[in-house]
Amino acid sequence: MKAPVRVAVTGAAGQIGYSLLFRIASGDMLGKDQPVILQLLEITPALEALQGVVMEIEDCAFPLVAGITTSDKAEEAFKDVDYAMLVGARPRGPGMERKDLLEANAAIFSVQGKALNDVASRDVKVLVVGNPANTNSLIAQQNAPDLDPGQFTAMTRLDHNRALAQLANQTGCHTQDITRLTVWGNHSSTQYPDISHAQIKGEPAADKVDRQWYENEFIPTVQQRGAAIIKARGASSAASAASSAVDHMRTWALGTADGDWTSMGIPSDGSYGIAEGIIYSFPVTCKNGKYEIVQGLEIDTFSRERMQATEQELVEERDAVKHLFPNQ
Ligand code: NAI
Repeated sequence: MKAPVRVAVTGAAGQIGYSLLFRIASGDMLGKDQPVILQLLEITPALEALQGVVMEIEDCAFPLVAGITTSDKAEEAFKDVDYAMLVGARPRGPGMERKDLLEANAAIFSVQGKALNDVASRDVKVLVVGNPANTNSLIAQQNAPDLDPGQFTAMTRLDHNRALAQLANQTGCHTQDITRLTVWGNHSSTQYPDISHAQIKGEPAADKVDRQWYENEFIPTVQQRGAAIIKARGASSAASAASSAVDHMRTWALGTADGDWTSMGIPSDGSYGIAEGIIYSFPVTCKNGKYEIVQGLEIDTFSRERMQATEQELVEERDAVKHLFPNQ
């Protein structure tokens, strides 16, 4: 058996946490031979509820769980962690503007970024799930000058998985038959799910669907899927978000399949003309714990316009919180 790795989860007593922790503990994320120590962070009023979740994890008698800690202090929860999954965030309250939401979360993610900088493993892999995920990730990164900026990522894997499901339903194939699908940009309704390079059983996906369906149904359905789930379920997607968080970390740690790629929100290096520095979802391949942007894809005018619209939103989000970055 390998030595245990440390996995921090914030917002661990929340809806996503309730699904996510059990998936990590069962080995779905890092493999059935990888023991884990769970380091759970919550706000003080939620610590009691978190204790109940810990009791349930204990009661599963998972073979891979090598320890569980709980805390309401980021410096404790992030001590020596190899993986940090930042799920807890401030939800939008009544009358709260987008700007207020960004600022309320900036306060949380700057503290957590500093704590990661000070106490996490130097190789920590950080995934931000809490919304607005891309910009929260940027805020944490800006507060962690001693870590590589590329260690901070944001989750668009749920959008990627949603797009796979829609395309599979429409074409009568299985999601596993689809490769090379991309979600570009922000985890928001401006995201651009792109099938122009996708393949179904090795054949171009775009040839198998009607262009009208792609533009007028597929794209808006994927973009609005979160809202549709809230409407139907009365609560935001939780188990699917947790499952996608597991997918994101597993792919990052263990790699993409040959000939395929996935979508991850990562710091832009200027590829495809996207503003450098913003956390933007790109097509990436992963190998040996590192990701790389897929280069050289042809981008048509339709795609370019959509990639730029979601880029613009992220630039605006960044500008709204820039004054809170320590080095501005
Ligand atoms: P929830 O409200 O059920 O749970 C959030 C938990 O975070 C609560 O237990 C709360 O006490 C905790 N929390 C709040 N501030 C904290 C802090 N400073 N430190 C530690 N814990 C803190 O919400 P849920 O459903 O679990 O969703 C969590 C976040 O994930 C939300 O921001 C939601 O919008 C986002 N989300 C992102 C998705 C994505 O694809 N990127 C998909 C679905 C949800």
